Amino acid sequence: MLLPIPLLFTPLYFTFAANALPSLLPRDDFSPGGQAALFNSKAYLADSIKSVMLGSIRTSWEQGTAAAGVLEHDNPEYSVFAGSPFANNGNLPATALQLAFSAAVRQGPDGRLSQEINDGLDGAALDGASAGPYVLLGTFTEPSRADYFQSAAEKQLNYLLNTAPKTSTGAISMRNDGHAYWNDGVFMGPPFLAYYGALTNDQSLLQQAFDNVRLYREALLIDGPTGKLWAHIYNEDEASFWDKGLWATGNAWAALGIIRVEETIRKSAFADQMRDQLNELQSWTKEILDGTFAAIRSEDDLIPNYIDSNNTFGDAAASAALASVAYRAAVINSDVFGSNYTEIAGRIAKAVLNGVDEIGVISPYVDPLSWEEVGLLSTEGQAFALMMVAGWRAWLTWNGQYLTA
Ligand SMILES: *[C@@H]1O[C@H](CO)[C@@H](O)[C@H](O)[C@H]1NC(C)=O
Ligand SMILES: *[C@@H]1O[C@H](CO)[C@@H](O)[C@H](O)[C@H]1NC(C)=O
Repeated sequence: MLLPIPLLFTPLYFTFAANALPSLLPRDDFSPGGQAALFNSKAYLADSIKSVMLGSIRTSWEQGTAAAGVLEHDNPEYSVFAGSPFANNGNLPATALQLAFSAAVRQGPDGRLSQEINDGLDGAALDGASAGPYVLLGTFTEPSRADYFQSAAEKQLNYLLNTAPKTSTGAISMRNDGHAYWNDGVFMGPPFLAYYGALTNDQSLLQQAFDNVRLYREALLIDGPTGKLWAHIYNEDEASFWDKGLWATGNAWAALGIIRVEETIRKSAFADQMRDQLNELQSWTKEILDGTFAAIRSEDDLIPNYIDSNNTFGDAAASAALASVAYRAAVINSDVFGSNYTEIAGRIAKAVLNGVDEIGVISPYVDPLSWEEVGLLSTEGQAFALMMVAGWRAWLTWNGQYLTA
């Protein structure tokens, strides 16, 4: 009678222990406190992520995107997310200016920045302008090159306003050789127009930045499986979509551009006069975050490369960019962008940083030129991760978290 008891008891005990084990293990905690612990253990990776980006040979749009990531990471006080970004505070934002200087030295004869590499000018009308805000930053932070930067910025502005092809709606075409809307153009051109307007107190440039965002959205917005999102490319000359797919990175580019235009207007002298535009820009950021975050994959906590495809992969580049936008949006307006945004951003941040290899390369991420394939090296993907870490830090700091990294 004594023997069966331990026999019975033993399996019961182990069954109980096995069931209890998962709840004894630390669970993912994406509250601000939980994310601060994650940040403190992972944010050091930003240094190698950045050096992979700087080690990469860069095209025009990558030069400007790299400058954006570097500024937000190294000198956040001069990013448009800061309190008063358009005044010299005594710091020299050297790493962003290093990228801006090269963009200006390699300016093409028509005014586009970052063109003179390999065989010269690219087919994009807007990509060169992505470095424009950082060239303008040099006009008030580096006195010895202020005139040089000013002249380069003027030429770039002149190209956008007077040389680049315009679509039938009056938007600046993404292409130099035709009339087309590409959703990534929203990051390339409008933030520079807005920055120029904020710096020179020119409301019409701020309005043109807003109008370009609005016109691109009107041309590209379609219904998708998780709500309205932006198709990738519409060619006006052929009256057809070249890529009607809901490319996650393209939507991320649009959101990155929208929130920068919004913040630039907000920090300008015209914020009060442009309340309606600010509200619209915020609603367009929400539209993109809602449509993309609803598609997050449970198996890897990444946004699918194409939202409207089952035959796709989780893309760390788009995911990082969208997480950066969610963190920025949560600081700007936590009533609209509450914990359901920052918890998804936290899942993404963990997944992206877990995918960093020994030299700082992130994976998996989409090839920047072959939009349906996983790529080896994505300069923009590296930059997006820097933006994510910078936005994450800003949100955690705003929450009063203690950061050691
Ligand atoms: C978050 O919640 C708000 C309010 O319920 C909702 O409008 C929004 O779509 C949600 N967004 C996400 C990404 O879950
Ligand atoms: C993905 O697959 C599911 C299940 O077969 C289907 O209902 C859904 O429409 C598919 N989504 C897309 C975007 O093709």
